[in-house]
Amino acid sequence: MGKINSKVTDSVNFFKGNKPSDLTAKFGSPLYVYNESILRERCRELKNLVDYKNFIVNYSAKANSNLAFLEIVNEEGLYVDAMSMGEIYVELKAGFKPEQIFFISNNISEEEMKFAIERNITLSVDSLSQLERYGMLNPGGKVAARFNSGVGAGHSEKVITGGKKTKFAINPEYIPEFKEILKKYDLKLMGINNHIGSLFMEADKYIEGVKATLEIAKQFDDLDFVDFGGGIGIPYEKLNDQPRFDLEDLSRQLGEVIDGFVKEYGKEITFKIEPGRYISAECCVLLGTVHAIKHNNVHKFVGTDIGFNVLQRPVMYDSHHDIEVYNDADDTEPVTVVGNICESGDILAKDRVLPVVSIGDTIGLLDAGAYGYSMASNYNNRLRPAEVLIRENGEAVLIREADELEDLTRHMISLKN
Ligand code: LLP
Repeated sequence: MGKINSKVTDSVNFFKGNKPSDLTAKFGSPLYVYNESILRERCRELKNLVDYKNFIVNYSAKANSNLAFLEIVNEEGLYVDAMSMGEIYVELKAGFKPEQIFFISNNISEEEMKFAIERNITLSVDSLSQLERYGMLNPGGKVAARFNSGVGAGHSEKVITGGKKTKFAINPEYIPEFKEILKKYDLKLMGINNHIGSLFMEADKYIEGVKATLEIAKQFDDLDFVDFGGGIGIPYEKLNDQPRFDLEDLSRQLGEVIDGFVKEYGKEITFKIEPGRYISAECCVLLGTVHAIKHNNVHKFVGTDIGFNVLQRPVMYDSHHDIEVYNDADDTEPVTVVGNICESGDILAKDRVLPVVSIGDTIGLLDAGAYGYSMASNYNNRLRPAEVLIRENGEAVLIREADELEDLTRHMISLKN
């Protein structure tokens, strides 16, 4: 008997006795599979990050906004952020109360602003012109605002949201004009927020952003909260023993900075963070099936059903996801793992050394729960996959059906009738 190549998932008992190939046989392939215990564990780690009574974790739902997933996050006592009416809609359905939702907007329409105002959802604007619009719609109301701390970090230019190049947030140099607009519309500034970017593996940049944000906060009297944003990374290279983010270090540094600020500001305001990836990435494995193997010039290609309509990250950002092969091969070889989309760029992993793969094998892309399904599309008129949750007792339950062919034309209007 050879070994099964499932080192990482075995180490955390990910499948809880469910065989990956049984799951795809039952629910279809590809398939997003979530582990409830790991999700709950991540929620708890961050909820207890700082020993300060007014500390709130707003899970950033853009990373994963499945309804059942959000219901678990809600049960764990986290709050949420939102980026759109759609996210608010599903968050309300998942049981979050309006006051537990923080709408961090970017370039939104009047309709979207009204949607939040009518539901009493705190909204953060990120430009003077949007503050002006908000003031006209809700004079005398409460509002929050996103400021650029000048600090940026992240795994790709595309996800760095602080510093000089970003479209996000208000530069602190505009604070005088900002205050004039607040006054003009009699608006109360409840809080300010910042987000430096996504996926960094050390606390230092984050803390730099926190400190710069708190300097901005000091320019406003009587804030209720300051939100430091998300971005805490996870180790995507577990097979290479990449170390985890040092949460203890973050906890210690954040605790110190918060204590110092509270003393100086003279008010025990609320502090929030907005992690998306840290909560959602590691509780998910994306299963797929190998349908073809071929040698073309320099590469040996392993052709799977995981196209970039299912998982965009490798194509969009050159992101690495570890791959497990659920067979018992002992030998390894370098292969290029690709999907089934009509673009040469549809590559999941280039020249990756994997256990020798055969047609029909089930593979697993690890850490796929953040920006996986939430960025999936119907490109090439392919059907988005189902999502399954492995409950704490090991039972695998469907939490989203796969698309069906009829879904593809559901909103299309034929000229023939
Ligand atoms: N808060 C704000 C305002 C954000 O824009 C984001 C992410 C977060 C919080 C959560 O960041 P996290 O903790 O998940 O890093 N699609 C990319 C990541 C885009 C991040 C967008 N904003 C990826 O797949 O890596």
